[in-house]
Amino acid sequence: MTDPNKRPENMERITNEALANAFIEEQVEACRKQIGDGNVLLALSGGVDSSVVAALLIKAVGKQLTCIHVNHGLMRKGESEQVIEVFRNQLGANLIYIDATDRFLDKLEGVSDPETKRKIIGGEFIRVFEEESAKLENIGFLGQGTIYPDILESEAGVKAHHNVGGLPEDVHFELVEPVKLLYKDEVRVVGKALGLPESMVERQPFPGPGLGVRCTGAITRDRLNALREADAILREEFANAGLAGKVWQYFIIVPDYKTTGIKDGKRAFEWPAVIRAVNTRDAMTATIERLDYDLLDRITYRITHEVPGINRVLYDLTGKPTGTIEWE
Ligand code: XMP
Repeated sequence: MTDPNKRPENMERITNEALANAFIEEQVEACRKQIGDGNVLLALSGGVDSSVVAALLIKAVGKQLTCIHVNHGLMRKGESEQVIEVFRNQLGANLIYIDATDRFLDKLEGVSDPETKRKIIGGEFIRVFEEESAKLENIGFLGQGTIYPDILESEAGVKAHHNVGGLPEDVHFELVEPVKLLYKDEVRVVGKALGLPESMVERQPFPGPGLGVRCTGAITRDRLNALREADAILREEFANAGLAGKVWQYFIIVPDYKTTGIKDGKRAFEWPAVIRAVNTRDAMTATIERLDYDLLDRITYRITHEVPGINRVLYDLTGKPTGTIEWE
């Protein structure tokens, strides 16, 4: 018998719309067959993989799919809003939106150790998801955005075979994993063919703990807001400079440290914003993007003038190793 978790040798790489459409048709058929008149639940983070699975399942089983989007308060600016706009308003999905911001931020208050922060965010995510799914009836299936590298890495013992912020191990649902034999570039092509917006399909990798690991140390709401606004400016300027699809990952960190500055002729004791812009193939090592000085000037001016609480901008020139991509 063929192993369902092994990509067949002769499977063609999905590189264009025609191949994507053929794949979509085949998977819509397979999902309908698997799910029958049952109901499916999906944790929709808004990342590429879960978004593509959501769009595929909407096409296959429509309202038999329920998506849950948990906003942990650590999303980038506009991302939860985009999930609602695309999936609820445009694709007509059954979408449960949970704004759990207060719950997460209250739990994280005063916690400065990076691994403890990760555990709190991951644990709370599971609890919220479990509470919400317990309210639903007749769910037999769980959709997951597992992709082929997840399976390969799990076999190689690199990480546990599951995507997302780690759903509970002991779920009683049968898994539906329509893109599990695809590589990331193929998932993007399929997403485009399904009509998902470019900004969603080409999204950068985003850590499960979100902005939580970029607001270093103990997270405060004012510093988190400053980080979110500065990060939005960085993304806007990268997009205007044509760097959006070109640089692998770029974001802002706002460390838990203040320095003296001057704003409007007055002393301003505020945080720095640190730019990170890296290129990599597999995130195991990374090099720094050589950014244009005029662009750096513009970003610096905008962040220091538009974002309350930030008086300096730094560019992290450290590759991986010795730095990791994230600061925590
Ligand atoms: P590092 O910082 O280890 O990051 O060089 C490598 C890649 O992994 C992402 N990353 C995470 N992703 N949960 C995630 O889902 C995490 O806790 C996490 N930490 C880092 C990081 O953004 C980069 O793409």
